[in-house]
Amino acid sequence: MAVKTFGIIGAGQMGNGIAQVAAHFGGLNVIINDIADQFVAKGLETISKNLDRLVIKDKLTTGEKTEIQSRIKKSTNLEDMKDADFVVEAAVEREDLKLNIFRKLDEVCKPGVILATNTSSIPITRIASATKRPELVIGMHFMNPVPVMKLVEIIRGLATSQETYNTTEILSKQFGKVPVECNDFPGFISNRILMPMINEAVYALFEGVGTPQAIDDIMVLGMNHPMGPLALADLIGLDTCYAIMDVIHKGFGDSKYRPCPLLKKYVDAGYLGRKTGRGFYEYSK
Ligand code: CAA
Repeated sequence: MAVKTFGIIGAGQMGNGIAQVAAHFGGLNVIINDIADQFVAKGLETISKNLDRLVIKDKLTTGEKTEIQSRIKKSTNLEDMKDADFVVEAAVEREDLKLNIFRKLDEVCKPGVILATNTSSIPITRIASATKRPELVIGMHFMNPVPVMKLVEIIRGLATSQETYNTTEILSKQFGKVPVECNDFPGFISNRILMPMINEAVYALFEGVGTPQAIDDIMVLGMNHPMGPLALADLIGLDTCYAIMDVIHKGFGDSKYRPCPLLKKYVDAGYLGRKTGRGFYEYSK
């Protein structure tokens, strides 16, 4: 099926980034959906700010910005996905929530429409089993910040068809990204490697090995990482980091993936990183 209208569930930091690249580089009509107007409005505001970065740098004209924005339609009703030719879900990292969304999408979307998920760790095969079209369900995992990061990790569920894979790969390239394929294991490849590093950095803090700044400086200056693991955790969101570690820990049943108690404590305290103004660092809102 030719993809002209691209649906996105979730207008948060991943969803709005995906909407931006789909409308900008993909040239697609986009329907961006969230549970309430205020979340969709916030997502559109972020897109506007990020397009402004490009206007300031002369990478986009104001006319092009307006044109890109005009291709993005707001939605707070999942039924609107009946008009989509491809849907990617980028809701919060909770399995029960994702399964409900996929059940509903399967009911409202046209036959043949691919239902992709931007999940960071939840098995694609399990998400696919909530639908009657498992061959059309696939992982399409973007990285944060979406407009900047080149990777799309594409994950095949047990039943994902080759045609579904090919369409997802073509779309990723159309969005200016580099698709890389992997199989369906907890955390896939990206988070199986990244999250234990972040978790270990939290353990180093927990055990008093160093301050947040020292831990991050060592990884930035010594390993050439663009930002330290604790600053990166704040960017991703500590709730998301915890949820991913939990999925990997339970998925493999191996104690080496045990989420650090300090990570859990921060999440319980509402220190979720940049989005709440406090994580391992403090941020002015
Ligand atoms: N949205 C859009 N553009 C952004 C941006 C954002 N949120 N943040 C930065 N940029 C752009 C800037 O405009 C700038 O563009 P130009 O090169 O065209 O000037 C460019 O990115 C670099 O930005 P800065 O100079 O301001 O800052 P920087 O060089 O420190 O880069 C960074 C910022 C891109 C975030 C960099 O620190 C980085 O790559 N960090 C690591 C990010 C990472 O690891 N992401 C993956 C997280 S894991 C994930 O997402 C998956 C998961 O499942 C959890």
